[in-house]
Parts: sequence; C-alpha cells; structure tokens
Amino acid sequence: TATPVTVTVTGAAGQIGYALLFRIASGQMLGPDTPVRLRLLEIPAGVRAAEGTAMELDDCAFPLLASIDVTDDVTAAFDGTNVGLLVGARPRTKGMERGDLLAANGGIFGPQGAAINAGAADDVRVLVVGNPANTNALIAAKHAPDVPASRFTAMTRLDHNRALSQLATRGGVPVGQVRNVTIWGNHSATQFPDIAHADVAGRPGAELAADAAWYLDEFVPTVAKRGAAIIEARGASSAASAANAAIEHVHDWVLGTPEGEWTSAAIMSDGSHYGVPEGIVSSFPVTSSGGEWEVVEGLEVSDLARERIDASVAELLEERDAVAGLGLV
Ligand code: NAI
Repeated sequence: TATPVTVTVTGAAGQIGYALLFRIASGQMLGPDTPVRLRLLEIPAGVRAAEGTAMELDDCAFPLLASIDVTDDVTAAFDGTNVGLLVGARPRTKGMERGDLLAANGGIFGPQGAAINAGAADDVRVLVVGNPANTNALIAAKHAPDVPASRFTAMTRLDHNRALSQLATRGGVPVGQVRNVTIWGNHSATQFPDIAHADVAGRPGAELAADAAWYLDEFVPTVAKRGAAIIEARGASSAASAANAAIEHVHDWVLGTPEGEWTSAAIMSDGSHYGVPEGIVSSFPVTSSGGEWEVVEGLEVSDLARERIDASVAELLEERDAVAGLGLV
C-alpha cells in the first residue's frame, strides 16, 4: 500500500474543520488510494473539542485514515507535513481596527510559516483558508524562506464555485455544464468574478456578460457578497461549502485539473501574468498538472476587467504594506 500523506488542519475544532476532516479521511481530497495521517492543530481552548472530533473520526472506521494526532503545539503540528490546511484564524470582533486584525493574524500565520519552514516535508503544499486569506498566506510564505513561494496558496475556490452556480442559474443549465469562470484578485468584496471566457453549456459567457445591468449590478455583487448572505440566512458563516472548496483546491493541485478546464486559486504572483505585481498572493485562472499551478495564459482582458483587477490588486498591495508596516513580512 501507498505511504500515508500527512495532512495538518489548523482550527480543527471550528465549523469548517468539522465539515472538512471527514472528507479528507474518507479519501475525497487525495483520492481513494492515498492513506492519510491527520494532525489537528488547535489553540488550548479548542483541543478538547478537536479530541471529540478525533473520536468521531475513529468511529467512522475510515480505511484510509492511518492516524490522528491532536495538538496545540505548532512545531509538532507541522513536523513532516505534506499538506497544510490553515483554517484557524482570528476573526474580526466588534470595535477591532484593521491593523489589530492583521497584527493578530500575523501572530498566527508567522509562527505557522516558520514551523512549516523548520519541519514540513520537502513537498509541502499549503492552502490558507483563514481570513484575510491572501495576506495570511503571504505572511506564512515570508516566514518560510526555504520553501518555494509557489507552495503557499489562498482559497478563492469557493468564490469560483459560487460564480459557476450563479451562472448556471442565469443560463438555465446544469452547473456541471458551466466552466472556465475566473476569480481575480483578493478573496474579499473587491474580487472580480470574470465570465468573459466562460463556457455555459456551449454558450459563450461573453454573451451573458453583455447584459451589463445583470452582470455588474447583480451577478458580481451576488458572488462577492455571498458570504454575508449566507451569514444572514444561516446565522453562521459558510462552512460546508468552504470545506468543499478546500477539498477541491487541494485535490486539483495534487491530482490535476481536468483537460480543457481551469479553476481559480490565489497564488504568489511573480509579476509576469496579467499585469499583477510580484510579491502578493492574488487569484488567477489556473490549471494544475504534476502538482504545480500554472496561470492560464493569453486570455483577453477587457477594459472593464482591467479596471476591476487593478482595484482588487490595489487592495492586496495595501494589505501587504500594512503588514509590512507591522513588521510581519
Ligand atoms: P470557527 O471560528 O468556527 O473556527 C476557527 C477555529 O480556529 C476555532 O476552533 C479556533 O479555536 C481555531 N483557531 C484560532 N486560532 C488558532 C491558531 N492559532 N491555531 C490553531 N487553531 C486556531 O471559524 P470557521 O467558520 O471554521 O472559519 C475559519 C476561517 O475561515 C475564518 O477566518 C473564516 O473567515 C475563513 N473562511 C474563509 C473562506 C474563504 O473562502 N477563503 C470561506 C469561509 C470562511
């Protein structure tokens, strides 16, 4: 049998953690032939609850689950890690300034990046889910100078899936027949869900985008503000859909994207794609093969898209400058 892959999940006792761990252990993330060792990292107050989740994982008797460890020690959590899912983060609480939020998250993602640098496996791949995800990924990457920056990514797959679903509804087609939307920029309200190159069951996305009133006043805000709409309806933030997106991001990164199809992921910009400056973690249209994300080249960027991409990138640069000002990157 294959050697188990070590998967570390932070924030394991949280609501995304609860929706994520069972799917990892059942083989939905790394495939039916890959056993997994799970490492659950929590803060001390979350350890007991994570132990409860570990008991339930045992009770599923998943054949692929080789072991589970629960810890509040960041060094132990990332020792030998092949896949790191950084979910736990400091949420913004009432009265908290943006600087305080960035500083609090720097205190989490800096040490986690350093622990990954010190102890993770050579092939380590990291997905940051905890918000502000793009900038938290940047902080982690900066604390891991010996790990290629391309191994640190942030999640825009949920935004991507939301765009697919909204587009399917608009086109009146099954969601499985919609592909090649792109989320550009930051996982925030400034993100730009681009449908200009989408395939909506054979119909070009540009045709639907031509209805600017629908596209810009309905579709874009619906996708960008879907998180708030879920909180409003459910009384809690997106959890199962976020976990699903994390599963799909890692699945596609490791096992490859389907032929003729791209997805969206926030990756470290090297400055050579679509005018996005170097050194920020920004979302692009990407494919993966052989375990490496590659930006889809040659898509035409309209004036509208240019303006929206630049606005989201400007926000990422501001976040980067703010954490640089705090000495976090
Ligand atoms: P939650 O509050 O239910 O769980 C977070 C867990 O992280 C808690 O159990 C907490 O004890 C733990 N935690 C906090 N600091 C930690 C640390 N330093 N080390 C280890 N664990 C730590 O939150 P939920 O709903 O699971 O969401 C997690 C994060 O994911 C939030 O930041 C949320 O904003 C973000 N998110 C991102 C999405 C995306 O598309 N990128 C979508 C949905 C949520």
